Amino acid sequence: MSQFVQSIIYENRTVTILDQTRLPEEEHYEIIHDLAQAIDAIKQLRVRGAPAISLFGGFVLVQEAFRTTGTLAEAKQELLEVSAQLLATRPTAVNLRNVLDELNQLIVSATTLKELPVRLEQKALELYQTDAKTSRQIGVHALELFESGDRVLTICNAGSIATAAYGTALAPFYLAKEQGIPLSVYASETRPLLQGARLTTWELQRAGIDVTLITDNMVAHTIKEKQITAIIVGADRITRNGDTANKIGTFQLALLARAFGIPFYVAAPLSTFDFTSLSGDEIEIEERDAREVTQLAGKATAPEDVSVFNPAFDVTPHDLITAIITELGVIEHPDVETIKQTIGQHTH
Ligand code: MRU
Repeated sequence: MSQFVQSIIYENRTVTILDQTRLPEEEHYEIIHDLAQAIDAIKQLRVRGAPAISLFGGFVLVQEAFRTTGTLAEAKQELLEVSAQLLATRPTAVNLRNVLDELNQLIVSATTLKELPVRLEQKALELYQTDAKTSRQIGVHALELFESGDRVLTICNAGSIATAAYGTALAPFYLAKEQGIPLSVYASETRPLLQGARLTTWELQRAGIDVTLITDNMVAHTIKEKQITAIIVGADRITRNGDTANKIGTFQLALLARAFGIPFYVAAPLSTFDFTSLSGDEIEIEERDAREVTQLAGKATAPEDVSVFNPAFDVTPHDLITAIITELGVIEHPDVETIKQTIGQHTH
């Protein structure tokens, strides 16, 4: 796994992140000293991508747990409050909620002050290690859907730096590289924060994977001119019927895939499923600061007082999704029934 840059490091009870806002210019690592800094790092997308946010949140909770003072009851209350504050950072991605739910159970059931941080640490490390394996498995299943020479388009960054390793939507390209199967990736730049341009091209280029950058408004033309064979994206939340929230712009890619008659794939681990929501209508879409749209690298690209709509995600209805690829396998024609058949028994 050394081929991957680690975006989250947990060592000696301290969390460090690769600041993803500084890429590709600079590989700057930031030590997280306290909860306020951790919350700011998530909100500002210095750490980002649904699985990475959840793993980071877990380690931050552990870090805080080793620092608590007072009685067991006080420590529990304090840590549940930390957990609630972490959860409130970004509303759309569900992985953080799923991880915090697991850790909260450990907090509640702890019987001594000494065991509390140790049990949390064990769980957070286990989740981190599992995520790398899970992502690799997603890659194995996704690669079965591609053929040598395929040209595959993606958006945002669902890559290794958005997970512990491999990524989700980008995992098949790492696997293909390992196996010597030539695949070409087209990365849509992903306005307004340019995760496609800054992060996906950076990590794929670094791994020696063939990648071509396009702007978001070039997608239809590129599908036609470059004969794109499939689109693959990550996910921030998948509801019981398969509706999928992912980076803003994903929905229009799915519509284009349908118009061109090419497959549209979603790659995501089970931790991205929200079994408490039936459909995408129930997903809260994060809206972000207008300046992300009116400025580029600190320079005005629009009148300062112009009215702006800046949703960070959109929801792709399940009937536009050819298949959802999880660590357990490929769910074709995702809906309530097909999802239940594949992963129903793994849910609680
Ligand atoms: O706002 P971001 O950069 O956190 O959005 C990330 C995405 O939309 C990813 O596609 C998703 O989180 C999956 S990452 C494996």
